[in-house]
Amino acid sequence: MCGITGYVGGKEALPILIEGLKNLEYRGYDSSGVCVVPAAGGTLEIRKEQGKIRCLEELMLKDPMPKAHIGIAHTRWATHGAPCRKNSHPHSNLDQTIAVVHNGIIENYQTLKAALIRKGYKFLSETDTEVIVHLISEYFEGDIVQAVQRAIQDLEGAFAIGVVSSDDPATLVAARVGSPLIVGIGKGENFIASDVPAIIRHTRKVIYLKDKEIAVLRRDGVEVMTFAGKKVKYKIDHVTFQMEAAQKQGYPHFMLKEIHEQPDVLAKMLKLRLKAGRVTLEGLGLSDAALKNISRIKVVACGTAYHAGLVGRYIIEELAGVPVDVDVSSEFRYRTLLVDKKTLVVAVSQSGETADTLAAIREARAKGAKVVSICNVIGSSLARESDGVLYTHAGPEIGVASTKAYTAQLFMFYIFALKLAEVHGGLAPKACLQLIKDLVEIPALYRKILKGLGKITSMAKDFSHFGCFLYLGRNINYPSALEGALKLKEISYIPAEGYAAGEMKHGPIALIDEYRAVVCIAPQSDVYEKMISNIQEILSRKGKVIAIATEGDQVISSHATHVITIPRTHKLLTPLLAALPLQFLAYAIAVNRGCDVDQPRNLAKSVTVE
Ligand code: AGP
Repeated sequence: MCGITGYVGGKEALPILIEGLKNLEYRGYDSSGVCVVPAAGGTLEIRKEQGKIRCLEELMLKDPMPKAHIGIAHTRWATHGAPCRKNSHPHSNLDQTIAVVHNGIIENYQTLKAALIRKGYKFLSETDTEVIVHLISEYFEGDIVQAVQRAIQDLEGAFAIGVVSSDDPATLVAARVGSPLIVGIGKGENFIASDVPAIIRHTRKVIYLKDKEIAVLRRDGVEVMTFAGKKVKYKIDHVTFQMEAAQKQGYPHFMLKEIHEQPDVLAKMLKLRLKAGRVTLEGLGLSDAALKNISRIKVVACGTAYHAGLVGRYIIEELAGVPVDVDVSSEFRYRTLLVDKKTLVVAVSQSGETADTLAAIREARAKGAKVVSICNVIGSSLARESDGVLYTHAGPEIGVASTKAYTAQLFMFYIFALKLAEVHGGLAPKACLQLIKDLVEIPALYRKILKGLGKITSMAKDFSHFGCFLYLGRNINYPSALEGALKLKEISYIPAEGYAAGEMKHGPIALIDEYRAVVCIAPQSDVYEKMISNIQEILSRKGKVIAIATEGDQVISSHATHVITIPRTHKLLTPLLAALPLQFLAYAIAVNRGCDVDQPRNLAKSVTVE
């Protein structure tokens, strides 16, 4: 996924564009670039550089940009073409009179590129994006809006684009299908951006462009139309997002800040979702009768959100007795979908912009299924395309590795399952009340865990040099093992595999020797003894064990080389508690290894391309 910003107004464009990019860097940071239409006229001025945005700033110190009041900028997560200067955006036509920034994938770019080359166009990059600017150039007959309108008709795939032209220095054109793009409405100035943090310092008035819409921005106003050119009456939303929430506030990394925010996030969710001991699912979009009519639930998600869905399955089946399937979105969307009006699809996504999850729900809805999304970004594409949305209100999650969003998603599954239990008559009311009582204690238990993280910091030193990790869990903590492994691998680059502990003897045990670290999630539960057996099997083969155990467990320390304890809680709530030490262990090891914790290599915060 990439970050796009654009500006047209009375101020100097460059600082606004660069500041906006920096607030979008979590979306992709392979390379970046900026294009302005010089106030003094002449062709476009473009600067672009491989690496983080600071590399672009260093370049512009040596090769300054001219004064300008309109421009576009981009920070890239490479899809087509290596992360290097020539593949960076903006891309321009050869006489540098038109430039484009793009987020998405043009599926038919090879065909378009071949046709344009036959017409004599020269391509300088390996990107799909470059076909867009040459197409616009091909159709340009003096009106940049018309040229964009015609060019996008030829494009297949997902795109959010910003376009400027030196022939029309007062106009910034934007268009989207499948990738997010917002328009910021200012006083005598207007903006485009991939996401709110880029423009929030300048305006809280935004238009969430819909698919197949074009926006034409000038200093004194904005017009929106369909791709066919039909004017659209747009709605201006007021954004409540708080910028300081997207700052580190003294923490060394966003990830550490977001780990520490989890008690407050859950306390806030308890306030929002529990009224007088009863769950409320404002935003669900389904009546109790409609919920009662649901005979099967299918959860679709990617990555960490998928792991939350796996925990959700245990919770819903245990509390409400409704069968649940869980699929990664990229598989769900290509399967023969057995969904009908009695199927509820629950899409889980922090960003609400994950391409595969969006595609999955579109398929499901086309087959008649109802879709409810558990989402963290207000107004995201997923939220707007679902029948109902349960916002997690976890605040902006900037660290690429998902932490507070994950535990907020888990929490939402508990609340949703309690509601289903009420409607479907699952778990006895008394048992539900006990679970709610234990749920209310979680923020305090989180604070207790966070106070004891120092022990994990020193433990991480013993394990930072290991070349491979195995994470084992059973039952409701099998997904915790998957999530713990994902956290470690994505920020420390150490190969780590999550496994159902019962599967150890079916293969993975071959990995065990004195060079292997095994994290065993073994809180007090019905499968505790089984976990102890797994730990013994590992130790007998000289494996090194880090056990996540329940406070007061006297047995485990005679088995595991290192023990991290979590407070005692309801057996169904242990994934909520186990998540924190697993997150912090990954964080501490990655920091020890000098990794870029917030912006790990090759990753982006949300994968808005397939
Ligand atoms: C999690 O740490 C990763 N950053 C990644 O797996 C993420 O969970 C996945 O890409 C899904 O993102 P979403 O929740 O925004 O859909």
